[in-house]
Amino acid sequence: MTTTSCSFEWPSECLVDEIKVDVSALAGCSKNDVLVVVSPYRVCPLGAHIDHQGGVVTAMALNKGVLLGFISSGVNEILLKSRQFDGRVRFRFDDELTKESTATVEEAAWGNYARGAVYALIKRGYRISKGIYGVIDGLKGLQGAGISSSAAVGVSILLALEHANGLNLNPEENIHLDRSIENDFLGLKNGILDQSAILLSRRGCLTVINCKEEKHKIVRPRSDIDTRGYKVLLAFSGLRHALSSNSSYNLRVSECQEAALTLLRAVGRDTRQPLLSDVHMEEYQAFKTQLKGACAKRAEHFFSECERVRKGIKAWEECDLKSFGRLMSESGGSSIENYECGCEPMIQLLEIVQGTPGVFGARFSGAGFRGCCVALIDACFAEAAAKHIELRYKQVQPLLAKQIENAFPVLICDTADHAYICLS
Ligand code: GLA
Repeated sequence: MTTTSCSFEWPSECLVDEIKVDVSALAGCSKNDVLVVVSPYRVCPLGAHIDHQGGVVTAMALNKGVLLGFISSGVNEILLKSRQFDGRVRFRFDDELTKESTATVEEAAWGNYARGAVYALIKRGYRISKGIYGVIDGLKGLQGAGISSSAAVGVSILLALEHANGLNLNPEENIHLDRSIENDFLGLKNGILDQSAILLSRRGCLTVINCKEEKHKIVRPRSDIDTRGYKVLLAFSGLRHALSSNSSYNLRVSECQEAALTLLRAVGRDTRQPLLSDVHMEEYQAFKTQLKGACAKRAEHFFSECERVRKGIKAWEECDLKSFGRLMSESGGSSIENYECGCEPMIQLLEIVQGTPGVFGARFSGAGFRGCCVALIDACFAEAAAKHIELRYKQVQPLLAKQIENAFPVLICDTADHAYICLS
């Protein structure tokens, strides 16, 4: 796994140092022996809810995320604390850790990611005998916000455990492992978007992930125009939830699969694990009248989103941020209309963001049932836009806005590199 010196503005040297001091107090070691995993949050500007159907999605990592300071525990024990949340996680493992072994009541809920990471490594056949003592830092209030804080935590623990056990795994293998935490251990039927974005992205580039072939490419804008003239703006709704406890996500995955099965039967290609990406666009056009109700809508979202992704990649290459943004807003519309995610506050927030000067386009981030909206915005407008959005949202949702006024009503981010272990 990539290790590098910390050279970007995030994380600051000062923050990294504070975390090392905390780990040395927890583990009774020298702070010079502490390593720090940098695991960024992610956005998916185009490709909403098509990863689990084997679609092609786009992603970017952000210059905000999770930091995990750690040292090998030397024995099969994990002890983790958070700098934002009470409680700690402490458990021993052997090669029998099962998925029933979820966090104990005394443990913080995020302990499940540590247990899940051990579970995933053992299930995939890795012999691990050493745990970690560590301290996790992230932005408070961003759990369930739609920027994949959970995958960022999962990836950070995997990388730390691998380092402690002398395992040098490539990003593709870590994508499988983190997916196993979410799918097998936590029971969420999501795709590989989140982990891939966190493990593969490059600053200033669009990460294009083919979720069926499990291949990716990094798309740099072709022209010389400085793409850092844009920012990624996140506007938070104040609605939070844990994705895996919400059955709406898994329900829609089943509806997509049902649609895929109907279409595949119509063209005479039955399959045991139907995915909408198994159906060609022409086949969809020819047989879509056989789909009814929710299945018809989910399929319409899938095929129209695939088209938006295709056009979006071209627009990104050509540095055409206006077209790219317009596609993002269209994706937001299809998420509401066809995928039927979002809810009143999220839709109000999305409309406010889309109508703000300087915004190229916006959509729900993450699953979209709660959390935040993501926008691509002209950098010159970003500060004023943040103030405008915060004010307008306060007018339409005063109670929810109050819940986030001391956290992050709006965050302005840059794109960043994938997760790595920081050596300095
Ligand atoms: C969540 C899931 C992802 C993806 C998005 C929607 O973030 O974890 O796998 O499906 O929702 O695009």
